[in-house]
Amino acid sequence: MQERTKEKIQELLEKHNALLVAHFYQKDEVVELAHFCGDSLELARKASKDSRNLVVFCGVGFMGESVKILAPNKRVIMPKIACCSMARMISSDYYDRSMELLKSYGIEDIFPMTYINSSAEVKAKVGAMGGVVCTSANAKKIFEYARSANKRIFFLPDKCLGANLADMFNLKYSILGMDSKEDILQSDVICYNGFCSVHQLFSVDDIDFYRQKYEDILIAVHPECKPEVVKKADFVGSTSQIIAYVKGLPDSQAVAVGTEFNLVSRLRPQSNNTFVLSSTIPECPTMNETSPEDVLKLLEAYDQGRVHNEILLDKEIADMAKRALDKMLELS
Ligand code: 13P
Ligand code: SF4
Repeated sequence: MQERTKEKIQELLEKHNALLVAHFYQKDEVVELAHFCGDSLELARKASKDSRNLVVFCGVGFMGESVKILAPNKRVIMPKIACCSMARMISSDYYDRSMELLKSYGIEDIFPMTYINSSAEVKAKVGAMGGVVCTSANAKKIFEYARSANKRIFFLPDKCLGANLADMFNLKYSILGMDSKEDILQSDVICYNGFCSVHQLFSVDDIDFYRQKYEDILIAVHPECKPEVVKKADFVGSTSQIIAYVKGLPDSQAVAVGTEFNLVSRLRPQSNNTFVLSSTIPECPTMNETSPEDVLKLLEAYDQGRVHNEILLDKEIADMAKRALDKMLELS
């Protein structure tokens, strides 16, 4: 990045008392600009509590929306409102259709739990039913809460995270729209059929390959990976948790990491012992699109009174979504 671009961004951030935050999957040059980086939970929590009223959010759309829902008086603007393909897999209409299908199977007592990778509209539907949001960092704890409702859990949109949680508690799970009515009726956790196209790339073959090549290698993966991959891993956690785990290892310890490429390549630049758990480059294409130039353009426009890419939400939807997000924060 050009030094001048960086200086101008810093000047404009100061002038407008703006906070700049970035998810770990952003490019290095964007991460470098941020006041802080974090996983979805940390970003939602810290950015919504920050004293600055203008938030420049470098990440995917649902992350910016989460800050706006939690702190409605803040202005949240995004250099690019990047799309999370998983969050796109469920709309409020698909949510309603899923509920109808469950009801047609005779399942009425449903506790909805949505991964934070979903739109404000979907979170609002979940909030309206008394359900809760989770992130990869707190999923286990929130799942325990969901279980205490003694209802059938409808987990959305990530079928992998839902299945991984069910496995953790030795529960039976099924996938709505994929499995038979009988399977759905017999399961404790019913998952929506969504997934992350990036985390689908990691396979058991990749794990076997690394284990054969490096005898003592450790495998660390994100819980959006497939259940068979998660079962064979040594560590499973959110992006922040993976970073802490890998950084805590001695430099000589080999580790292969199953999450997005930008994050992994920043982990231990001095060590030749950190590998991407894939033969392809697992990039989150939309996260990777934001550049320092986009940040500068956004701030220059703001400075001239033109507000681009602002997160604006319908009040009723935001209030209802907040119920499910507040519940998550209270529990985690
Ligand atoms: P984290 O909350 O772990 O940062 O995950 C967000 C995400 O989208 C992973 O693909
Ligand atoms: Fe969404 Fe997957 Fe990108 Fe995460 S990595 S933001 S789940 S598409």
